[in-house]
Formats: sequence, C-alpha cells, structure tokens
Amino acid sequence: MRLDSKKDTEIIKNSLAQSHEYVTMVVKEGDTVVDATAGNGNDTLFLARLVGEKGRVYSFDIQSCAIERTREKLEKEGLTERVTLINDSHHNMDLYIEGKVRTIMFNLGYLPGGDHNIDTKADSTEEALNKAMDIIEKNGLISMVVYYGGDSGFDEKNHIMDYIKHIDSKRFTVMATEFVNQVNCPPILVCIEKLF
Ligand SMILES: C[S@@+](CC[C@H](N)C(=O)[O-])C[C@H]1O[C@@H](n2cnc3c(N)ncnc32)[C@H](O)[C@@H]1O
Repeated sequence: MRLDSKKDTEIIKNSLAQSHEYVTMVVKEGDTVVDATAGNGNDTLFLARLVGEKGRVYSFDIQSCAIERTREKLEKEGLTERVTLINDSHHNMDLYIEGKVRTIMFNLGYLPGGDHNIDTKADSTEEALNKAMDIIEKNGLISMVVYYGGDSGFDEKNHIMDYIKHIDSKRFTVMATEFVNQVNCPPILVCIEKLF
C-alpha cells in the first residue's frame, strides 16, 4: 500500500497504517461502512474484508477510472458482492445511504497514478464531513488521512485542520496526529468519534 513502507516492528506507524488500526478496533462483521475516496481500492478492499459476508461497504469516487480500479481489485478477491461502488462525490453520500454506519474513511488528495489536478477540495470535503458526522452511529469513527504539500497544496489541509477545531466537543471527540520532525509534509491522521 502506498505509505505502508515502515517496518512492522516500528511502533509509530504512518497515518494510513494508523487509520487502519483504529478502524479495525471499531468495525465488526456485518457492519455497514463507507470509503469516501475509493481511489485505487486499497481501503475499500480492507473494509470489505473487515465487514465480512453480511456487511456492506459504500465506496465513492468522482473518477470512473478509480471506480474501475477498485472494482478490479474486488473482483480478484471475490468481494464485489458486499461493496456498492458509487461514481459520485462523497458530499452526496446521504443520497445513497440509509440509516447509520459504523465507520467512514477519507483518504484525501489525488489518485496515485492518475491526474494530480483532480483531487479533494476544501469545500466539498467540509460538506462531506458534515454529512459523515450525521450518518455515523454512536461510538462510530470517521478517519481522515490528510495529504498536503506538493501537488495537493495547503488550502484543503489548512481549512480542514481549522474546521475540526470547532466541532462540538460534547458530541464528538476529535484527534489529529502529526509527525513533527519529518520532512516532505507527512500526512496527518484525523479521527472523529461520535459520543452520542
Ligand atoms: C488519495 S486517493 C484515495 C486512495 C484510496 N483510498 C486507496 O485506498 O487507494 C483520493 C481519491 O479521492 C477522489 N476524490 C476527489 N474528490 C472526491 C470527491 N468529492 N468525492 C469522492 N472522491 C473524490 C479522487 O478521485 C481520488 O481517487
């Protein structure tokens, strides 16, 4: 996987690996979950394995090539049945999902190996985050890996990092972990737990 290059023996894993650890703690077989940014399908595949045969994964991407790459990955593993692939923006997630979900994963930025100009944007990410906070169940978890710098720039990261500071602390616990001594803008992990 793209950033899972650190050795298993290392205790402090990168943000993507940490997001998988948190999500693994939360999701049980049979759960309904969301991948808000399907991309190359790695997180969708991870979620499809976690929820098992009776679970359901809703997986969104605005790029049809990302949806196709994700479909191919699932087909190879025989897991297409438990995944609903949706070629639409995650800020429309409420139009497709009924009821509450256990976890929602966001992996911001552009499609690795794709067009770097087609990436997540501050406004639609904020809108999607608001919808996610509505449809997540009590003690459910939203994870967001925030990429920035390089072709991603800083606008979305600055906007989201400011926005999450103002989320109602009575209803949600919000955590952000940053690597403070690394070079090249290492991604930040944001986790949001719904308290009630
Ligand atoms: C970093 S990649 C995701 C990587 C993916 N999670 C994986 O496991 O391979 C970000 C993806 O977000 C998609 N994206 C950008 N804006 C979006 C939006 N508004 N709604 C849904 N997906 C979006 C891009 O097309 C890109 O494929």
